[in-house]
Amino acid sequence: MDDVTVRWFRPEDAQDIVRLHAENMDYFEEEQPLTPEFVIESSKRSDFRFMVAERGGKVVGFTGALFYSSVGRAELGPISVGKNQQNHGAGNKLVASMLDFLKSAGIHRVVAHVKASNSSAINFFLSCGFYVEANLREYTMKREDAVQLAVLLN
Ligand SMILES: CC(C)(COP(=O)(O)OP(=O)(O)OC[C@H]1O[C@@H](n2cnc3c(N)ncnc32)[C@H](O)[C@@H]1OP(=O)(O)O)[C@@H](O)C(=O)NCCC(=O)NCCS
Repeated sequence: MDDVTVRWFRPEDAQDIVRLHAENMDYFEEEQPLTPEFVIESSKRSDFRFMVAERGGKVVGFTGALFYSSVGRAELGPISVGKNQQNHGAGNKLVASMLDFLKSAGIHRVVAHVKASNSSAINFFLSCGFYVEANLREYTMKREDAVQLAVLLN
């Protein structure tokens, strides 16, 4: 939808990120909910960025990326859009905006890891231009299988 805007994280977004992460907790690797303090600390790292998606002045989604400009590689994730806000283009805009930033930071290769059972997220990444690169057995602490998706930035 055209009414979604993506912008950089601000400290006052920390609580929204905690809420959006908790809402989709089953899909993530972490066993524990995020805390606002952890989000704020992560946002201060020089090798990590958060972006948020807003609709009607409300934060409806976020993503993060860990990147290493010295070697040109990055990992995108987590990404989460509120359950009642999904399938309206927010996720796609978040990924496109983060890939634009990563490219400008000298990154040429981005990976994302998704649980193998999360077929809708795998399809989502495919629709964002990623390809399936590897099937990872017993990848998580709970020994769930995962899929590694990748995209090369031109
Ligand atoms: C995966 C996730 C981030 C996708 O976010 P989203 O906002 O629903 O994604 P989008 O709306 O951009 O795209 C989803 C689908 O809607 C479609 N879509 C995009 N824009 C649209 C629009 N304007 N109108 C209708 N449909 C649209 C897309 O084509 C896409 O369909 P496809 O995957 O079949 O191609 C979201 O579903 C989510 O938070 N899931 C739970 C957490 C999770 O699994 N995270 C990934 C693991 S880290």
